[in-house]
Amino acid sequence: MAFPPSFLDELVARNPIEDVVGQYVSLKRSGSNLFGLCPFHGEKTASFSVAPDKGIYYCFGCHKGGGSINFMMEIEGLSYPDAVRALAKRAGMTVPEDEQYQSRYRQQERLWALSKEAARFYVAQLYAPAGAEGLAYARRRGMPKSTLTRFGIGFAPNEWTAMTDAMRAKGYTDEELKESGLVSVSQKNGRIYDRFRNRLMFPIIDVRGNVIGFGGRVMDNSTPKYLNSPETIIFNKRKNLFALNLAKKTKLPYLILVEGYMDAVALHQYGFDCAVASLGTSLTEEHAVLLSRYTENVVLIYDGDEAGQRATRRAIPMLEKAGLQVKVLQMRDAKDPDEYLKKFGADKFKNLLEESSNRVEYQLNAIRKKYDLREDEQRVKFIGEAAEFISSLGNAVQREVYGHRVADAAKISYDAMKIEVNKAYKRRIAREKKRQEKIDLAPAQALQPKARSIRYDNIKSAMAEETIIAMALKEPALLDEAQDLKEEEFSSGLLGSVYVQLRSRHDQGLDVSLGVLSDLTGEEMSHITGIYQRQQGPVSEQAFRDCVRTIHAEHQASKVDSADDLMALRNRYKERKGIKG
Ligand code: GTP
Ligand code: MN
Repeated sequence: MAFPPSFLDELVARNPIEDVVGQYVSLKRSGSNLFGLCPFHGEKTASFSVAPDKGIYYCFGCHKGGGSINFMMEIEGLSYPDAVRALAKRAGMTVPEDEQYQSRYRQQERLWALSKEAARFYVAQLYAPAGAEGLAYARRRGMPKSTLTRFGIGFAPNEWTAMTDAMRAKGYTDEELKESGLVSVSQKNGRIYDRFRNRLMFPIIDVRGNVIGFGGRVMDNSTPKYLNSPETIIFNKRKNLFALNLAKKTKLPYLILVEGYMDAVALHQYGFDCAVASLGTSLTEEHAVLLSRYTENVVLIYDGDEAGQRATRRAIPMLEKAGLQVKVLQMRDAKDPDEYLKKFGADKFKNLLEESSNRVEYQLNAIRKKYDLREDEQRVKFIGEAAEFISSLGNAVQREVYGHRVADAAKISYDAMKIEVNKAYKRRIAREKKRQEKIDLAPAQALQPKARSIRYDNIKSAMAEETIIAMALKEPALLDEAQDLKEEEFSSGLLGSVYVQLRSRHDQGLDVSLGVLSDLTGEEMSHITGIYQRQQGPVSEQAFRDCVRTIHAEHQASKVDSADDLMALRNRYKERKGIKG
């Protein structure tokens, strides 16, 4: 890794985990540990723990964990080197920069600066003669100057190199312009030209206030209606939401998630300064987690068409998984929020918001819409499907409330409905039992890491490898017991590389702890932290040596296995060919 180990040691020492986490989470002490609400999955009871003496955090709910560096990576969405930089800044330390990272960071800073300059250029154009048409269009769409200013909306003039020339004059190179995604390259002569022309320009700004990309809208019916910046080293559509830089400051206790730039802009204009839009892509898990950092409640407003409904069904579980309470607002008498606000005004919209249904209502409505309740056969089917759904609700009050509602809709008695729900419930239990039996019958499967990107090929060896790492973290001196244990003997590449890092730090007399591990993804770091947290057994030389022995033995056996396989193959080959001996 690029940063010198001694620097990392000092960095970790000067950024106590409780201080770093404490900037984001309110922590309460309980014994030697601190607890708080997990910032990564949204929850009501504190299952997020910080252990100052070990320098780690761990969430017993979502199983994320690691040290200070890892925490910064997760919470701010930073790369490893950027997290190190942020912590260094916090502690007033100078970073001994690795050439490569330094140049990449400089490159990012240049692109942020370039994008900001471009945004300024587009704004200036909107009010220049070249932007007359753009300004007229903005007016037609009902955007006053205050809205245009708040969002930094601008105009890309109808010329081939206006922006390019302006940026060159400010000292940006063609190479930088290409990397920024602001230009396209001519197939014919390789020259660059403005990607955005004759479009109303919406800058996309991240939560730290950097301009990272643009969306540009045509002013007529030509296509594409919206043109977005391509992904660049500063622009990741999966991780950013339009207008979140503004919405994160809202006083409202929820965020509104919409499909279009114009919808978000209109909502802010009409006083709903909590609106954000996805960037012309469907919602991702990263978006959901990002949202959950700023609110506990999300109101989803997607278009009423089939595509919008599908997107809604897809988004609900994703948002819930991030710990968010989801409500769905169904648009009526208008295509989207922008149109609705302009037609009916803020008060009417407020009513709609208040009516917006929770997930259960939304899903029941969706089920109901599938059937024509005037027909008996369809009514029976509706009751069956609704009962199935209601039986899945974990809360008895909910089952009763919604059971009544379905009974009324289907014109049957509540008692009859209750019987249906109970039947569905029993079927569900039976299915669940079967599923559990399957898991019990496959214990090895259950020991596989939860993280999908991490798989163990040899469970027996991997369990020993996990134990070794957990014990070494608790009692580094134990590593002396494993002088002859080699990385290639580990069945898990991940565990092997962690072992090597611990080993080499120990051999150099450096601090051996989770917080200083490098080169791991967030998922991997969480996995290792989980191993460490779960380790309950005795930490002893004996236990440690037993594990080392198991790893040696499993490694030997795997070699024999493959040798056996070869022998078997050769024998079969000989048999087929009729060769003897
Ligand atoms: P207006 O017509 O200006 O009100 O826009 P809208 O936001 O109502 O448009 P629409 O519902 O058609 O699209 C919703 C969002 O999808 C837009 O804000 C864009 O982010 C994205 N989008 C729409 N059309 C295009 C397109 O042609 N290309 C790309 N890349 N994205 C689009
Ligand atoms: Mn619209």
